[in-house]
Amino acid sequence: MHHPMITMVRLSPSILSANLFDLKGEISRLLDAGVDMLHVDVMDGHFVPNITFGLPLVKWLRKETDMELDVHLMISDPDRYAPMFAEAGADIVTVHVESTDHLNMVLQSISEAGARPSVTLNPATPLSTLEWVLDSIHMVLIMSVNPGFGGQSFIPSSLDRIRSVSDMIRDRGLDVLVEVDGGVDPLTAGPVVEAGADIIVAGSAVFSRNDRDIRGNIRSIMDAVNAV
Ligand code: DX5
Ligand code: ZN
Repeated sequence: MHHPMITMVRLSPSILSANLFDLKGEISRLLDAGVDMLHVDVMDGHFVPNITFGLPLVKWLRKETDMELDVHLMISDPDRYAPMFAEAGADIVTVHVESTDHLNMVLQSISEAGARPSVTLNPATPLSTLEWVLDSIHMVLIMSVNPGFGGQSFIPSSLDRIRSVSDMIRDRGLDVLVEVDGGVDPLTAGPVVEAGADIIVAGSAVFSRNDRDIRGNIRSIMDAVNAV
């Protein structure tokens, strides 16, 4: 068994696949199912070929819910915008290592603006990019699809990446969480957790499947997690 200790794996549902016309209803269904975290995918149409949400949504979510706001920035200019998302009320602000030449500076500015800084890597980005930031972040997000869209299939090599990054964190005695995003469903959730994920993101597997039965979909994912 890879995990030497018992950890409570958490689910961070991605509202990218939610019914945005009834976001309030969707959030109350998540709360009823025991979820306490929301994954917000911010895309600028430049770093990734899709456009989604911005600062106003994060501000409204902060005002209306106590859920932990896990904001994933897929934008070209995090130097400028990352602190604004922290000020808007994000609890966690995650930036792509590929999106800035000044990663250390961006992470500092997120902390100064009152959020926990985290980093994420596209599926082909070397894990060595984490070397000099690992001790100053809250979480590493391993992308298990190419960022941009929900509903893609899990890239199998991600499992080795999750294992390696978990080992790096353990070897250094750090307290950094590992989150995994993309193609997580009842089939892939088990292997992802076994490889070392602390937080799993799921969009389509929570909101789109089985006639949008959110409670049942969450139960299927968490059953797979708890079977590990
Ligand atoms: C992809 C986003 C993901 C996405 C995951 O660019 O970062 O958070 O919503 O969607 P699923 O779970 O459907 O792969
Ligand atoms: Zn995401």
